[in-house]
This record gives sequence, C-alpha cells and structure tokens, in this order.
Amino acid sequence: MFYEPGKTDHGLPHDPFKACVTPRPIGWISTLSSTGIANLAPYSQFNNLTFDPPYVMFSANQTPSNTQKDTVANVETTGVFVWNLATWELKDAVNVSARQVPEGVDEFELTGVEAGESRVVKVDVEGRGQVPVPMVKKSPIQFECTYHSTIRLPGHPPMGTADIVIGKVVGIHISDDVLTNGKVDVKKTEPIARLGYFEYAVVRGEGVFEMTIPVGEGEEGEGLLVGLEGCAKGNRRHGRDYNNFRKAPDSINFNRDYMKSRLNIQKNQFETPYYRLCCTRG
Ligand SMILES: Cc1cc2nc3c(=O)[nH]c(=O)nc-3n(C[C@H](O)[C@H](O)[C@H](O)COP(=O)(O)O)c2cc1C
Repeated sequence: MFYEPGKTDHGLPHDPFKACVTPRPIGWISTLSSTGIANLAPYSQFNNLTFDPPYVMFSANQTPSNTQKDTVANVETTGVFVWNLATWELKDAVNVSARQVPEGVDEFELTGVEAGESRVVKVDVEGRGQVPVPMVKKSPIQFECTYHSTIRLPGHPPMGTADIVIGKVVGIHISDDVLTNGKVDVKKTEPIARLGYFEYAVVRGEGVFEMTIPVGEGEEGEGLLVGLEGCAKGNRRHGRDYNNFRKAPDSINFNRDYMKSRLNIQKNQFETPYYRLCCTRG
C-alpha cells in the first residue's frame, strides 16, 4: 500500500503512522512549575540526540483544546526538567501520569509515585528559594536536564502543532542495582516502550543481541565504534590522538561559510583526517 498523509487515505481502520516507528522509548518527564507544583507526564516521541555532551529531546503535541502542554510550559519557564526511565514495574503510574489534569494538580500525588530530589537542577520558586525538581524515586535511571531550545513544528489544530523540546543532560543517576559487570542491564531495568495503537513492549533481555559495525583498522574504525557506543571519553581521546580536528560550526542551518567549506572539502577530501571523516560519512 502507499498513501500520502493529508492527501490520500490509507484506507485502514486505524492510522498506521505511529505503528510504523516502533519501539519508541518513553520520555517520562518530571518538572516543577514556577509556583512549585510538581508535574509528571510520559512522552514517547522522545530520544537521546547525542552523547558528548549528552542531549535528549521530547516532542509534545498541543492538548485536545489546542493549548501548550504543562510539561513544555514548565520547562520553558523554569529552564530545567528530569527524565525518568519508564519501567515495567512502574507502567501503571506511567499511564496514570498521562491524564490531562488542571495545571495546579500535583501529578506525583495523583499517580501515587514517591518523589526523590534532583541534585543539580533547581527551580526558583517564589517564597521557597531554589527547589529541587521531583524525580520518580523508584525509577532506576534519571537524567537531570537544562533546557536548550524548542523547535515548533506547525500542524493542524487542535493537536497537530508540536513543540520539540531539547535539553542538555547535566546529571545522570543510575541505581547500582541495575548494573551487571559495569553495564546497565535491561534484564534488571525492564524498560517499556511504545508501539502503535495502544500497544507497548517490555525489554527483558530475550531478543537482545550484539553486533558491531564491520570496520577496518585505524582512526575511522575506532571513531565509528566510539560513536556507536556513545563513549564521551573515547570521543575526547580520539580528538587528542588525531589532533587535526577543528571544532564543527555551532550552527549549520543556512551557514554559507559552512556550505562553502563542505564544497572545498570535497575537492581536497583526503587532506586531513577530519576532512576524510567528514566526507566519507556525509
Ligand atoms: C506512553 C505515553 C506516551 C505519550 N507520548 C506523548 C508524546 O510523545 N507527545 C505528546 O504530546 N503526548 C504524549 N502522550 C500524552 C501526554 O502524556 C498527555 O497529554 C499528558 O497529559 C501531558 O501532560 P502535561 O500537560 O502535564 O505535560 C503520551 C501518553 C502516554 C501514555
């Protein structure tokens, strides 16, 4: 089958789009409003974006009454949020925390989830000073994040417009209980993920397999594996060992100098390791 979203009908009883992109990790985001009300909500349009430094994103549609979701409003106002790993054990709380309740409702109380406290990120609450952001205590992994930016994707009302919120991860909590031989063990964390429709999956270890990119000797191979693993220390070491790297431009959107340098690179593509990396991997 083939259809053009918004132009031609898929002809199926249910919209297949979200069911095509699975499994999606769940961004279970906790925030505090500037008045000190705790908020908790799941976002399956969520992922990590990069690793050195680490960034994450979640994408929030507008509410059914075409207003911005509380999580986004809180992040944009306070500049901080926490990501909590959604696990099998906590799945019912994840579900309840998706309820669209009025802004003043404490969603930790609503879901009956015990709150821990962020260590690094804080919210300036009037009359209370610097208050930690509540985190889901029972969740084995939490990221403390500072707000980077929002990209708004225009869409059809009421819910189509989406706010993609990007945050930099500045603090990572991992419970020792979920480590096996120094690695985060999915058999212990049992993360849940969104599938299509109202379906979910749980990762427990069955079906987990390992493979590495078949790379050759030398810096390119090492660099690829460092990136695949997401190893920040490896990235810094790689930068030191091959010291011809220059800093990538902070913005490449509509950056003519960058585009020009890309064209030069193609002419001299084997001049330095940086150029070679850049060109062979696009
Ligand atoms: C597992 C799960 C994943 C969800 N993912 C998203 C999402 O990616 N984007 C979104 O806008 N809403 C998503 N929702 C719905 C929000 O959680 C819901 O609108 C919630 O009330 C938002 O709360 P807030 O207004 O306090 O931020 C999801 C709900 C569930 C149960």
